[in-house]
Amino acid sequence: MLRNKEIILGVTGGIAAYKAVELLREMVKRGANVHVVMTKNAQQFVSPLTFETLSGNPVLCEMFRLFRGSKIGHVTLADIADLMVIAPATANILGKIANGIADDLLTTMVMAMKVPVLFAPSMNVNMWQSSFVQNNVERLKAHGYQFIGPAEGDLACGGAGRGRLADIAEIIEKIEDIFTKKDLQGQRILVTAGPTLEAIDPIRYITNRSTGKMGFALAKMARRRGAEVTLITGPNYLSLPRRDIQQISVHSAQQMRDVVMEYYEDCHIVIMAAAVADFRPQNTLQEKIKKTNGTYILKLEKNPDILKELGEKKGEHILVGFAAETSELMENAGQKLKEKNLDIIVANDVTQPGAGFGTDTNIVKILDVRGRVRKLPLLSKDEVANIILDQVVKLVRKKQRNLPWPRNW
Ligand code: PMT
Repeated sequence: MLRNKEIILGVTGGIAAYKAVELLREMVKRGANVHVVMTKNAQQFVSPLTFETLSGNPVLCEMFRLFRGSKIGHVTLADIADLMVIAPATANILGKIANGIADDLLTTMVMAMKVPVLFAPSMNVNMWQSSFVQNNVERLKAHGYQFIGPAEGDLACGGAGRGRLADIAEIIEKIEDIFTKKDLQGQRILVTAGPTLEAIDPIRYITNRSTGKMGFALAKMARRRGAEVTLITGPNYLSLPRRDIQQISVHSAQQMRDVVMEYYEDCHIVIMAAAVADFRPQNTLQEKIKKTNGTYILKLEKNPDILKELGEKKGEHILVGFAAETSELMENAGQKLKEKNLDIIVANDVTQPGAGFGTDTNIVKILDVRGRVRKLPLLSKDEVANIILDQVVKLVRKKQRNLPWPRNW
């Protein structure tokens, strides 16, 4: 998403200036060409050389320095930029810009920007809460400037509260969000992720190898594209770089089924990426099973098939399933597509290196009800999620206009 984007990173004079180095690296890693602009105070915290080395571009600090030949720096950069992000943004910079003051290179450049400007504030909690700062923030928002954070937590001044620079992952997510077309706006999507956990006794359980990564990628990308997202997830160790996704944690397949049913009527699209356990122990014991010398036979009974139940009362919903297979990928996936009354099924052969459980990548084939197959190479789970969502968007449009099935797959 950030590939070939021209981004201006404005760094102002706060202790979080050192975190701007990491932000720069993350943007560069994603393919952006980053131009750093520093205020005089920022240079007290981090040397321009650090930013220059990591960005591969000269760092601009002075107002009256020419840029690329004889052009005026701030105007040239403002013209070519796709986005400007100011991180950290101090109370001082917010106040200056909110009041139209342009007395150095950074503030002058902001005035010349015609593309989105994102502020990531960082300051002492009392400063952030002061009516001066809050009024300035409101004023800037009213002018169309965007904000991320500040976050809550321990502050460099020794106190705690709201004032920390937002996490770098959150700032990156916000930047990606700004560049993303909102083609799922108005859609309510329910995504399931992760494994389920079926208790044997208070100590032990049956589960599977799902980590939740595929489902989390789908939830993140759907929200980025403007959908309202509810993520129902089995136990996992992941955190989302977004706070605007409703996340509901469950343990067992039965719990997942109950929550999915609760939200079903109210959503337009369901994507079941969760690896739901097909079986659970017939009895969950209240006491720990004691070690015995012989064998121990555990009786299992079937769990509800959530997706099948959704398919039986499909109505206007768009249903997307996954198939995790170890053999006969297409046959099994095709059968599940039919049996569960789905629009799309995403088949992954989990024996392939880089595919399936726990990896950051996946290799999938997407099947639709008309027997069409789209084969994807090894891609990141974010990329796979986006391609699945592209197919969902086509289905949404078809439904909205009552069109025949999309031609382009
Ligand atoms: O979480 P990760 O580590 O990133 O791994 C990703 C993944 C491998 C879990 C994911 O890509 C995937 O394949 N998810 C579906 C796994 C699965 O349960 O497949 P299945 O073939 O057993 O089930 C078919 C479909 O029915 C799935 O959409 C499943 O969510 C659903 N199902 C299954 C059983 C059940 N009792 N109820 C269901 O709703």
